[in-house]
Amino acid sequence: MSDRYCVIGNPIAHSKSPEIHVAFARQTGQDLAYERCLAPIDGFADTVRGLIEQGYRGANVTVPFKLEAFALATRLRERARVAGAVNTLVFEDGEIVGDNTDGPGLVADIVQNAGVPLAGKRVLLLGAGGAARGVILPILQHGPASIVMANRTRATADALAAQFAGHAAHAGQVAACGFEDIGGQVGSQVEGAFDVVINATSASLSNALPPVPAAAFREGALAFDMMYGKALSPFMEFAAQHGAIARDGLGMLVEQAAEAFALWRGVRPATGDVLATLRSRL
Ligand code: ATR
Repeated sequence: MSDRYCVIGNPIAHSKSPEIHVAFARQTGQDLAYERCLAPIDGFADTVRGLIEQGYRGANVTVPFKLEAFALATRLRERARVAGAVNTLVFEDGEIVGDNTDGPGLVADIVQNAGVPLAGKRVLLLGAGGAARGVILPILQHGPASIVMANRTRATADALAAQFAGHAAHAGQVAACGFEDIGGQVGSQVEGAFDVVINATSASLSNALPPVPAAAFREGALAFDMMYGKALSPFMEFAAQHGAIARDGLGMLVEQAAEAFALWRGVRPATGDVLATLRSRL
């Protein structure tokens, strides 16, 4: 029988993960099955235990279970521990190993697919929730000049910056501010425009624009929205109107899946064709 995997979420019917992993398996000649798994809102842990009993080898985890997956894991990879959230589970040797491939997926999409190196760049990260937290370490590993976290609730951004200060390569590489401070405070990390602006707020879910000033975007900056859809998000539209190159989160979705697939199967699939197919079906 094929090795079995699934994506656990609630809701889950919309998930593109089965399509992506089936395409990866076909491409790499791996014998596996991959399904959607709807877990009851109060039944994540029981669902995972059931999968293990049925012999599943691993699972992806999506909204709203990434924090519960973090709590349930018996062993955590460093990037999951630092992110405080788990999107990939590996069931091996009686352990539930938790990893997080969202951040590496975002960085792979920016650096490899968009061709924008992060080394030496000024990065502005909007939001300070789970989605933001997961990408900070992978970005720092690419050696940006700085990463500034801006959040509506300033205190959350401050706490996040303090948490990651120990991972910085130099003083001031990690900083926090409120949206109203972006571009201001002469002589500080927030002064001037940014090379890469990442929207990790959940604003796009409600079709809202986070209050980022137009001056945040350097001409030709990369404006990245973690969300994707047929239409541009308000953030992508706003960024494009102010000289930035807007990019949605579809490539990040495919890259986080490729990273999970590599963890499970030990082979790294190519992502270009899968991304193009998904894009054509949006
Ligand atoms: P996720 O796990 O997707 O990051 P979350 O932990 O609920 O979800 O975090 C949502 C983030 O989006 C927060 O940073 C939130 O700001 P607050 O900390 O001030 O709540 C941010 N956010 C949500 N809607 C927003 C909006 N309309 N404008 C700006 N920021 C918004």
